[in-house]
Amino acid sequence: MEDEHQQPWRVLEFYSGIGGMRYSAMKAGVNAKMVEAFDINDLANDVYQHNFNHRPFQTLTAADLDRYRANVWLLSPPCQPYTRQGLQKQSADARASSFIKILDIIPQLMQPPTMLFVENVVGFETSDTHQQMVQILKENEFVTQEFILSPFQFGVPYSRPRYFCLAKRKPLSFCNPEYDGQLLCVPEPLHDRKKSIPINENDRLTSTFDEILQTCLPIERFLESASTTNLDAFSPEGSLNQYSVPSSLIERWGSAMDIVYPDSTRCCCFTKSYYRYVKGTGSLLATIMPKIRDKTSLEELSLRYFTPREVANLHAFPKEFEFPEHVTLRQRYALLGNSLSVAVVAPLLRYLFSDP
Ligand SMILES: C[S@@+](CC[C@H](N)C(=O)[O-])C[C@H]1O[C@@H](n2cnc3c(N)ncnc32)[C@H](O)[C@@H]1O
Repeated sequence: MEDEHQQPWRVLEFYSGIGGMRYSAMKAGVNAKMVEAFDINDLANDVYQHNFNHRPFQTLTAADLDRYRANVWLLSPPCQPYTRQGLQKQSADARASSFIKILDIIPQLMQPPTMLFVENVVGFETSDTHQQMVQILKENEFVTQEFILSPFQFGVPYSRPRYFCLAKRKPLSFCNPEYDGQLLCVPEPLHDRKKSIPINENDRLTSTFDEILQTCLPIERFLESASTTNLDAFSPEGSLNQYSVPSSLIERWGSAMDIVYPDSTRCCCFTKSYYRYVKGTGSLLATIMPKIRDKTSLEELSLRYFTPREVANLHAFPKEFEFPEHVTLRQRYALLGNSLSVAVVAPLLRYLFSDP
C-alpha cells in the first residue's frame, strides 16, 4: 500500500545486536528507512555503530514509539527463555518480559505498526510467549504466516533452523494468503509468490534433508582464504595459530566434536559459546584432508576453529561488515552466535514487504 505512494516504510529494529536484521532488509532490497534501533548491549551497539554509523538506543518508552511514526517492527528478542539448553521458563523468564511488554503496547499506540517480523529459536512456537504473541496480533487485526527455516534450504552449507513470524495488519495481506495462520517448514512460497505447495509437502522436509544438503555450496567457499587474501582482517591478535584446536581438547572432547572438511556441504550452528566450549557449540574444520576420513585420528586432521569472518560468511553477512578493533575474539563469536542468517531473513522480509 505504502509502496504505491513510493514512501519508504519506516522501520524500527528491536534487539538490534550487530545488525543482522538491517543487513537482511538491505539485501532484500525493500523500500525501507531504518528509523531507529534498540539494544541494551553496549558492545553490540559499538559494532552496530561501527558498521552503520548510528548508535542504537538503550532505552525505550511507550511514548517514544508513537513519535517514530514507524509502520514496520523487526524484532529478534532473547532466545534463552525458549532454548533446549535453557531452563525453558518461557514468559516467566525475565528476558522474555521486554518482548511481551512491547507487544502489549500495540493497542495503546496512536499509530500501531502495520507489519511485524519476529525471529526466535525453534521451541518458541510452542511457548506461552508465542501464545500471547498470536493472541495480541489477532486482537489487533493482524494476519500471520509462520516459518521454520534453515540456511541450508537457501544453498548455504549451514544448519541454523530458526522460527519466524510474519504479520500484516488488515487490510494488508500476504501474496499467498492460503498460508495465513500456518507454520511452514519449506521456503517455496517465498521464491515463487504464486506457487502453492500441498500441505503434506511440509512433512517431506525431513526425508529429503540429505538431498537438500547436496545442493549446498561447499564449506571452502565460505573460508577466509577463498574470500580474501588478508587472513588477519578479522583476527584481533592477527594470527591463524589462535584458531588451532589444542591436543588437550581433542583428547578430552574428540568424540563430541563435529568435524567438517572444506568440501563438506554442511556444518552445525555456531552458538555464542563457540571457542569457549567445544561440545554442541559449532563445527571444527579439518585443514588436512585425510585419504580415508573415518579411519584417520583426529590429531592428524590439524583441526581449527572457524574464524569470526568465516562465521559471518556462513551467516551471509556482507563483506563490508567488520568488528571494531577493541572487540575480543570471544566477544566476536558471542555476538555472531546471537545473530541471524541474512540468507534466510532477506527472502522472508522480501516476501513480507511484497504486495499481492
Ligand atoms: C537474539 S539477539 C538479537 C541479535 C540481532 N538480531 C543481531 O543480528 O545481532 C538478542 C538481543 O537482544 C538484546 N536485548 C536483550 N534484552 C533486551 C532488552 N530488554 N532491551 C533491549 N535489548 C535487549 C541483547 O543485547 C541481544 O543483542
